[in-house]
Amino acid sequence: MNIVDFRSDTVTCPDGGMRKAIFEASVGDSGYGDDPSINELESLAADIVGQEAAIFVPSGVMGNITALGSHCRRGEAVLVGDKSHIYRYEGGGLSAIAGLLPYALDDSSGLPSPESVLNSCPEVNVHFAQTSLLCLEVTHNDRGGLAQPLSDFKAVVEAGREKGLAIHLDGARVFNSAVAWGVDVKEYTSSVDSVQFCLSKGLGAPMGAMLCGSEEFISRARFERKRLGGELRQAGFMAAAGIYALKNNIPKLLEDHENGQVLADTLAQGGLIVEPVPQGTRRTNMVYVNLAEKGPSSSELAASCKPKGVLFNDMEPRRFRLVTHLGMDREEVIRGANCILREALTA
Ligand SMILES: Cc1ncc(COP(=O)(O)O)c(C=O)c1O
Repeated sequence: MNIVDFRSDTVTCPDGGMRKAIFEASVGDSGYGDDPSINELESLAADIVGQEAAIFVPSGVMGNITALGSHCRRGEAVLVGDKSHIYRYEGGGLSAIAGLLPYALDDSSGLPSPESVLNSCPEVNVHFAQTSLLCLEVTHNDRGGLAQPLSDFKAVVEAGREKGLAIHLDGARVFNSAVAWGVDVKEYTSSVDSVQFCLSKGLGAPMGAMLCGSEEFISRARFERKRLGGELRQAGFMAAAGIYALKNNIPKLLEDHENGQVLADTLAQGGLIVEPVPQGTRRTNMVYVNLAEKGPSSSELAASCKPKGVLFNDMEPRRFRLVTHLGMDREEVIRGANCILREALTA
């Protein structure tokens, strides 16, 4: 059976060109700085995002935790969105590993408001943890994968600066936002102190993420990554996949977005409640659907679609997420949408 896998853009597998690049990669011991492919990937990534330096990390989560540990001292406070990946979906590593106190700001719109940032840092006083970092997420996974307007992003960055905070961008899918708005990714990434972006989501590499920032920040990050066990040896095989992804797959994200729109339209026309794209934001490769009180729950619907070859994640009892990605074509998207409609509306 030909599976339509809407669970995530992490399910992509390397195509022939990427496999060839992996097979032919020049490698060395990257712990000694001897892996030419890792070195090439790190300088390419830094260049693309407009930062001085970059470091390859095995996963997006490790990129984020490495950033937190490199920016902050234990016992400090960090401003995070209350629906953000760093706060909700990283196993509490922010506290358990980095030793930080989260102040969670409402980011229902995809970004915390500048006012909430300005009002959330207690004065410097022995009673309070010192707030040192603001974390942002673009695109925002839990908030519909929406591409937030650049002006909103810049306004919240500005507010963080006004409070003297360092700024980390969880840009796991920042290229989706750049492509959705047709802007250079540097518009998001060059004004922050660090950015993590994933190679293994819509860009199609089998593993890895890049953490980028100043030379000084990245040398601290090398220390943090070592502590976490994330310094790899002949990682050039994976770096070759990352280089291939950055050189070939960024423009292809647009196809995922177009497929996301077709999926949303098909489901909405068929009678499901598709979460809308608020004025001023743009859809990328995610579609969130809310289920009416009557009828199957998200998990029941996921379970009834699975034997028919359509997979997706039930995020909440009456809310589920569908993700379009590399390697999924229009015919599959429509077939998947029709299956969900049939199962949801005839149950
Ligand atoms: C916004 C965001 N940040 C970070 C991550 C973590 O990436 P990884 O699963 O590669 O560790 C994810 C994963 O889905 C994500 O959606």
